[in-house]
Amino acid sequence: MRIAVAGSIATDHLFTFEGRFADSLLVEQLSKISLSFLASDLQVRRGGTGANIAFGMGVLGHRPLLVGAVGKDAGDYLSWLQEHGVDTQAVRLSEDKATARFTCTTDDDQAQLATFYPGAMAEAAEIDIAALGAFDLVVIAPDDPGAMLRHSASCRDRGVAFAADPSQQLAFMDGASIRGLVEGASYLFTNAYEAELVHDKTGWSADDVLDRVGVRVITHGADGIVISRKGEDDITVPVAPARQIAEPTGVGDAFRAGFLTATAWGLSLERAAQVGALLATHVVETVGTQEYAFTKADFLSRFTEAYGEAACADISTHIGTDH
Ligand SMILES: Nc1ncnc2c1ncn2[C@@H]1O[C@H](COP(=O)(O)OP(=O)(O)OP(=O)(O)O)[C@@H](O)[C@H]1O
Ligand SMILES: [Mg+2]
Repeated sequence: MRIAVAGSIATDHLFTFEGRFADSLLVEQLSKISLSFLASDLQVRRGGTGANIAFGMGVLGHRPLLVGAVGKDAGDYLSWLQEHGVDTQAVRLSEDKATARFTCTTDDDQAQLATFYPGAMAEAAEIDIAALGAFDLVVIAPDDPGAMLRHSASCRDRGVAFAADPSQQLAFMDGASIRGLVEGASYLFTNAYEAELVHDKTGWSADDVLDRVGVRVITHGADGIVISRKGEDDITVPVAPARQIAEPTGVGDAFRAGFLTATAWGLSLERAAQVGALLATHVVETVGTQEYAFTKADFLSRFTEAYGEAACADISTHIGTDH
């Protein structure tokens, strides 16, 4: 099964400021504000939803085609993704824009000053996914909104199966755009909050959504996953217990990576959600969205612990072998 993952490719630059922004803000001088904070720490993290999902799939042994746009500064990042099994041939290189970057400074009160620069990501809308070859499934993850709408329409028009993963973009999109992303999707992924946003903004009930998508997957954080289809009983899957909680950022992307990889292996929806859940657990246990690593033996033993031997037997012949 050939899967393309379209979505953002970005880096996060996270600064720590030892002090309080509030101590430097003079309310009567706000019209002339010009402040610089001396940071004591900088963490640079690889991210972007498309890259995170493709990374997870690559680590599990599938080889997804990543579709997105970066600047010429992304050479090392693309090499990292290639080393982890991602096909980056279809990533568009912008002539003049830098790779999307999220810059955030956090102070001692956890107050944050952040800037997101989309940069090259804006050029994702210029990518014609139809020109990239034939796919069994196209994943449409958060990206430039124009790109998301274009890829969805392109798949729908050509009868290509697609997975709608609008996630955080739902907060900024109107009902008509969301309907354009979701209508006709083979899979719709959201967390529980975003599921309500879909209902609210589109005016569709849960039944209306099931009339329009094949499989609806809703993640409920530590409370697990619910999968629904029209006319079928819901499937619920518990999370795989975490050994420690380091930082949850990126769990949603890892869940999708595992789910989609197991789907590519031809496994059931329940198995797919279980593989997604265990991959997400690895993200919970590490700081960063692409910092986890595991051996096949370790993954299989944790999978058995969480979901039993029969479940493990279903995945053991696939993991790490579908290159
Ligand atoms: N504390 C946890 N322990 C184990 N697994 C977790 C935990 N939190 C989340 N997960 C796993 O990650 C999946 C996705 O979580 P969640 O519903 O929080 O996604 P999300 O809100 O989209 O997250 P984000 O957008 O921050 O990546 C869950 O279905 C679950 O499998
Ligand atoms: Mg999410």
